[in-house]
Parts: sequence; C-alpha cells; structure tokens
Amino acid sequence: MNRNNMQHFQYQLGELYGEKVPLAKIAEQYGTPCYIYSKQAIIEAFKAFSLALQRYTCPHQINYAVKANSNLAFLNILVQQSAGFDIVSQGELERVLKAGGKASKVVFSGVGKSVPELTSALKAGIGCFNVESLSEVLRLNEIAKQLNIPANIALRVNPDVAADSHPYISTGLKENKFGVHLNQALEFYLTAQQLSHINIRGIAFHIGSQITTLDPFVAALNKVLKFIEVLKKSGIHLEHINIGGGLGLRYLDEKPPTPVEYIDTVMQYLKDSELEVHIEPGRAIAAHAGVLLTRLEYIKDNFAIVDASMNDLLRPALYESYHEIIPVQPHSQGLQAIYDIVGPVCETSDFLGKARHLCLKEGDLLAVLSAGAYGFSMSSNYNSRPRAAEIMIDHNQFHLVRPRESLIDLFDSEKLFNRLTD
Ligand code: LLP
Repeated sequence: MNRNNMQHFQYQLGELYGEKVPLAKIAEQYGTPCYIYSKQAIIEAFKAFSLALQRYTCPHQINYAVKANSNLAFLNILVQQSAGFDIVSQGELERVLKAGGKASKVVFSGVGKSVPELTSALKAGIGCFNVESLSEVLRLNEIAKQLNIPANIALRVNPDVAADSHPYISTGLKENKFGVHLNQALEFYLTAQQLSHINIRGIAFHIGSQITTLDPFVAALNKVLKFIEVLKKSGIHLEHINIGGGLGLRYLDEKPPTPVEYIDTVMQYLKDSELEVHIEPGRAIAAHAGVLLTRLEYIKDNFAIVDASMNDLLRPALYESYHEIIPVQPHSQGLQAIYDIVGPVCETSDFLGKARHLCLKEGDLLAVLSAGAYGFSMSSNYNSRPRAAEIMIDHNQFHLVRPRESLIDLFDSEKLFNRLTD
C-alpha cells in the first residue's frame, strides 16, 4: 500500500469524520465480527450530493438506494437529512416506513414486483413506481383500479450503455434484464397513457454500480434526453428524470469522480431541461461509512484465518472485489508475510482479501474497510453462522443498532416435520 493510500484508509478508520473510533473497545463489548458505522460519515456523504445539487436551481430528490445498507438506524439518519429512498422489495418499504421515512418520497424499482408488493406500495402511498415492463404496468393498473388509488410511474429504460464495471453489477446493456429498450419505450408510454389508473411522471435509468468514469453516465443521458424529445413530439411531457445510482468509490486505487464532478457533469445536460432531477446513490453514501471488524483466529502458512467470512461480507467472493484490510493496532511483534485473509466457511471462495503484506499475530483485530455498503445487507446465515452485530458511532458514543444473531435465531422458526401438530 502506498503512503497516500495508507493515510486515506487510516483516516477513514481512526477518525471517521472527526470521530475517534474505539474499535478495540467495541470488539471487547460486542464481540467480532461486527459492522461499525459512523453517523457523521453517512451525513457527510449524503451532504456531498445534496450540496452539489443545491447549487442548481432545478428541483431535485436524492433517493438513497436502501439495498446498500438497510439498517433502521442507518435509514433514520437519512430520513433526518430529508432523503428519499429507492426500494426494490416490500421488505425495504417496511424498513423505510419503520425508520420514519415517508412513502411519498419512496421510489419502487425492480424487474419482478409481485402483486402483494405492488398492492402494499400503492396502499402506503408510494411516490413513484419505476416500471420495468409493459406487463408490469398492466398489472399495476389493474391493482390500482381495484384499490382506486392511481399509480405514479416512470419507465425504467435500458439505454444500452456499458458501465465498464464488473459484469455482475452492470445493468445498462441490452442483454441485461433491466428496463425497457429505448426502441420499445415510445410504445410503452403510448400504452401507459391510455391506462385509467396510471399517471406518467417520469423516466428512469440505472446503468450499473461502481462506475469510475463519467463517460457512461453522459452516454446514457444523451440517449435518454434524445428520447424525451421524441416523447414530447408525441405529446407526452415528463416531470422528472431519474438517473439512478452507480457512482463508484475508491476501494484500492480507483480515481472515481467526486459527487461534485458527477453532479456538475450531469447538470450540464439537465439544468435547462425543466425536469426535476432524481438520483439514487447507494454505495457512495454507505461504503466508506462502515468497517467490518474481525479477529485473527489462526495463522496457518500464509493464511490468516479470521472470524469473519463470506457470509458476513460476500463482495470479495462474489465479485473478487477489493477491500483494504488493516490491523486496528499495528505492531511489529508478529509475522511479516504475504497473507490471504480467509474465513471459517467451507468454500475456497471464502476470502476477504488476497496477498496482503501484513505483520500479524494471532488475536489481532483487523478492520475490513469500506464495508458499509453491500456488506451486512448481503450477509447470510451460510454454514449456520449467526449474522454479525451492527454498531453506530455518533460523536464518540457507540450504540448497538442490531445485536448479533443468537444460535437460537438460526432455527427458531423451523420445525421437525413429524412434530408439525405441536
Ligand atoms: N438504483 C437502482 C435501480 C439500483 O439497482 C442500484 C443498485 C442503485 C440505485 C444504487 O447503486 P449504487 O449507487 O450503490 O452503485 N452488490 C453489488 C452492487 C449491486 C448494485 C445493485 N443496484 C456490490 O456489492 O458491489
């Protein structure tokens, strides 16, 4: 790791936005593995977008993508910042409402919304459905008719643009399942316009995640703005454009645009459009606001076997993604070597980091950085491992915002089939 990187990550770990994070104390009190988030870091990351947008006169809405981190305390911090929310399931809607969010500031995305999901979202008074197919809008119209609650919609279009990200998190190519192709979008709007309980409000796209250059955003915007002109000629006028999330971050040595650079670039194209601008950042708000704390159990050859696993943080196993891993209390009494940091799960893909130059001894506490987004929210009980505790730091105070699952939690709702009558 070069010196700049080291400083960057030490800063993130040791003084998350001015907070001295007492990681060792937290580990002592709540055990490991655990996720630790900084309230101030979440607010700072959100404000980076809102301040950038406030420099423009056009109305805007920031819909935090709940899937990145859906802990209620995390969501509630964003409710207090007047965030909107991008959800993809009924579960996420329930979380937003429980955290104090207003349904009217929620946007429902996703390719496979079920009847119960559409029904509950309509009843809750959701702000907008980002519809992804003609079948979906027909289904939504039927439900809206039965409930006599009109539905606001935006069509999610697929602009067929490469995000230059990992193929599993690229969504804007025509071979991806997401959105409606631009060449079918006019037909969609003309049909939707005829539906009794559908109000056309806008257009949406989301081309992928961890995008580290602005070109894909600009390419998608150009295509979609051109299409909006076509719509206008057909007499369909939109109120908003939702440009999705996807802004990438520095995990290792990426040089992604800052939120200001991102907003300035997209606003060049949008500021005179008379459209309300919606964005849906997830990672860029949550990732650097959290770390995963883990303890080194054993050193075996060049394997550092820690107590966190792919069930706690799936990203390295699934996308071979990089997370910086650093000792909480660096020392020189251990073994200096090149380690693979692995967990106890019985899969060769169970690693948190590969080929890391570290000086380690058994019992060390390690912090896996930039783990606030798609960390806990993608965790599982694989290998019957209880999910980790989550802790929120607020001005040097730490609060348990989700306790570690207990062993009983793992199977409490299961039943032996021959005792079903119990
Ligand atoms: N809007 C929509 C419709 C999305 O599908 C997503 C993410 C976002 C917004 C937020 O994107 P972000 O700003 O976080 O890039 N599990 C993967 C990331 C999957 C992202 C899925 N969609 C990972 O760990 O990298």
